[in-house]
Amino acid sequence: MLEFNNVSFGYDKHPILNDINFTIKNGELVFLIGKSGSGKSTILKLIYMDLLPSNGFVEFEGYNSESVKEKMLHLLRRKIGIIFQEFRLLKQRTVSENLSFVLEVINVPRNEIRRKVNDVLGEVGLLHRKNSYPDELSGGEQQRIAIARAIINNPTLVVADEPTGNLDPETSFEIMDTLKRINSKGTALLIATHNYDLVKKYPARIIKIENGKTINAHLKQ
Ligand SMILES: Nc1ncnc2c1ncn2[C@@H]1O[C@H](COP(=O)(O)OP(=O)(O)OP(=O)(O)O)[C@@H](O)[C@H]1O
Ligand SMILES: [Mg+2]
Repeated sequence: MLEFNNVSFGYDKHPILNDINFTIKNGELVFLIGKSGSGKSTILKLIYMDLLPSNGFVEFEGYNSESVKEKMLHLLRRKIGIIFQEFRLLKQRTVSENLSFVLEVINVPRNEIRRKVNDVLGEVGLLHRKNSYPDELSGGEQQRIAIARAIINNPTLVVADEPTGNLDPETSFEIMDTLKRINSKGTALLIATHNYDLVKKYPARIIKIENGKTINAHLKQ
């Protein structure tokens, strides 16, 4: 479903990624690790084509970075759920409104929106916080809402950038359990993290970025 083919990228000619090759298959669970500044977030942005490679190409479900038109990007992004480390929820809107918003902008009928909002809130165990505002929720709860928002449109791939970055270990594992459950229903999942406890606890494929290259890594269990 996703292919990086000889991808190089640098900000202002300063090279970050150099000739990267990897693929992700339907339904896979993959950790993307590497030290701070190695390029994890950059890889995620290349996937949803917020950034385009300076060399090589990224292809996601038939959308190729060399040929995709700006106008088509919203269609590509409908198929990818994005979870940001800092949640990015709209503070002035309730949980339910934060979730509805995603579907309103693509003109999903109102009753279907209501059903989907309830479904995803059930999925992350927060149906009872439907009418709360983000500020009234804990960090872990906000992250669950961010997950609910990422999956509400049935993406085939979810990318998560440090989804447990600001959370305590126990909450991190709960969030990971939720992500794992979503993955087990068939959604491919790419998780960028430097939380090695998480990577150790959940056996999955690991891609490591080192010196601008990606390598297949294995952790001692
Ligand atoms: N918009 C930008 N302009 C210039 N340089 C940038 C920009 N964004 C990131 N960089 C640089 O690119 C490199 C890779 O950044 P990136 O955010 O991908 O790293 P990361 O692996 O996600 O790090 P972290 O674990 O700290 O989140 C870093 O050296 C960073 O300073
Ligand atoms: Mg990052």
